[in-house]
Amino acid sequence: MCGIVAYLGNRDAYPILIEGLRKLEYRGYDSAGVALMQDDHIQMYKKKGRVDELDQYCSGRDTRGTAGIAHTRWATHGEPNEENAHPHIAEDGSMALIHNGIIENYLSLKKQLIQEGFTFKSETDTEVLVHLIKSIQKKEDVALPEAVMMALSMVEGTYALAILSVDDPDRLIVAKKGSPLLIGRDGHDYFVGSDGAPIVEYTQDVVYLEDGDVGVIKRGKALKIRNINDEKHLLKRPSFQKLELSLEQLEKGGFDTYMLKEIFEQPKAVIDSMRGRINLKKDVVSLGGIIEYEQKMLNARRFIIVACGTSWHAGLVAEHLFETLVRIPVEVEYASEFRYRDPIIREDDVLIAISQSGETADTLAAVEIGKKHGATVIGICNVVGSTLARETMAGSYTHAGPEIGVASTKAFTAQVTVLTLMALSLAEKKGTISKSQYHQLINDLESIPNKISQVLEQEQHIQRIAQYVATKPNAMFLGRGVNFPVALEGALKLKEISYIHAEGYPAAEIKHGPIALVDTNMPVIVIATEQKTYDKVVSNIQEIIARKGTIISVVTEGDTAVKKMSKFCIEIPKTEELLTPLVASVPLQLLAYHVAVIRDCDVDKPRNLAKSVSVE
Ligand code: F6R
Repeated sequence: MCGIVAYLGNRDAYPILIEGLRKLEYRGYDSAGVALMQDDHIQMYKKKGRVDELDQYCSGRDTRGTAGIAHTRWATHGEPNEENAHPHIAEDGSMALIHNGIIENYLSLKKQLIQEGFTFKSETDTEVLVHLIKSIQKKEDVALPEAVMMALSMVEGTYALAILSVDDPDRLIVAKKGSPLLIGRDGHDYFVGSDGAPIVEYTQDVVYLEDGDVGVIKRGKALKIRNINDEKHLLKRPSFQKLELSLEQLEKGGFDTYMLKEIFEQPKAVIDSMRGRINLKKDVVSLGGIIEYEQKMLNARRFIIVACGTSWHAGLVAEHLFETLVRIPVEVEYASEFRYRDPIIREDDVLIAISQSGETADTLAAVEIGKKHGATVIGICNVVGSTLARETMAGSYTHAGPEIGVASTKAFTAQVTVLTLMALSLAEKKGTISKSQYHQLINDLESIPNKISQVLEQEQHIQRIAQYVATKPNAMFLGRGVNFPVALEGALKLKEISYIHAEGYPAAEIKHGPIALVDTNMPVIVIATEQKTYDKVVSNIQEIIARKGTIISVVTEGDTAVKKMSKFCIEIPKTEELLTPLVASVPLQLLAYHVAVIRDCDVDKPRNLAKSVSVE
């Protein structure tokens, strides 16, 4: 989704802004722009397409200035073009603004502003903010920071924004509600970002703005923050903290793409997500972040898991983990649907929100609903300090490290790892598993990173299978029980990065409709590892072969029955059934990856997608 970088200090702003935009490319975008304060005017450049195109366009042009704002836009209101790209500038050229989020009441505000005589150059909701601030300044005769605060009190929706204005060339104004924004400082140099990526190269001393905060950054002065919800607009003390991110974590480390790097980082991501949560004797699991709410979780009537996309698939795996081990009923909900139902939530329900970014708008809205109804709300997320981490009562971080590739990989395995630890810790306290099963599962979980490494060694074999799949227009993924979410995840990975149409189904369901699609041209990828329903899956495979479908199977090492029926077979190490998704999802990630590479797709930045979906 959209990205923000801004700078004010003693250095040249342009290189900081353009490099910052490159660091934000992973979020997904379709146009980019930059505005620089030059003497007494604002110089602005915008381009549809990649940051490289903007940079090329700017080369040889005037990019002087030590204060500036820059933006990558992911189109919501109006198509991707230069008019709609940010920054948006006031009619008299005196102020430029960049914005992440959505102004929900923009239509009514726009109508009113048109009546006042303002003209709009773009179709965006953002341009409304620019004219609204100017309109207030004219009517009320107030300074810009006050006008910004007044305008934001009239706005419904979400925003993170940065403003440059000629009335004070040595000032940046920033604000936040619902979309993240942080300010880093290095002496009197200030760096602003919609996440830590564009900032970390310069400083790790950052403050995260809170909803309603408006910050005024003045050259050579201390940062001033006020909140629009505080009637007196009193100054707040900015609480600077350490940015938990390093530059190395953001680099590709010798891999061609971030996605491949992240697939290969999974053994480490799983280890890091377990670290410190299993004691030295390997007989106690505890998650520090939820201790305070553990009793509520143990007494829960029901767990409601809310998430989107890949995180929702992790939730489906958790349904098996929690119901089998903790014996508490689980409902797994698409956050986007949950928020617009009238769900029945009681105070003895525990809502668990899962999100890599911690910024997914639908998931955050579901969290609010849970809180409103008095449920205990727990978060599982990867990005430290994200909105989800701050808005939930307690939670656990997945320590997967930054995930830059748009398609989620290591975040999924890290989420399933943390959910397994959570289920184990609760099950042991609730007495719903035996001591020996508990110890066995801890040992099994600790063996997962090695097993993932063994799967990664098969990359070349999987690449050969990808040659075959890459020629097909469709693919079907099947799995049963805890491997059904793996099938869904395999299909999602393939469709989102290779643009091959793919669907995941519970294997037994296909005879209720989808089997009609099976013919010689349909690769059917079946997860047929050792599990309770193995024989049933074998029967499902036979049904597909009878219709001339091509089987690509993921089986347990040493399998012969399914292997014989498969055109291609990927063997994974023997794994305890409940933990199979942690291993079986990995070859499907590699398969999708190589199919996409063969089809010449931009693996890290698939079309139309964004990394952090901070709008509904
Ligand atoms: C798929 C993918 C998305 C995300 C979804 C939720 O590869 O990455 O489906 O899983 O947008 O994002 P988070 O986990 O950040 O809430």
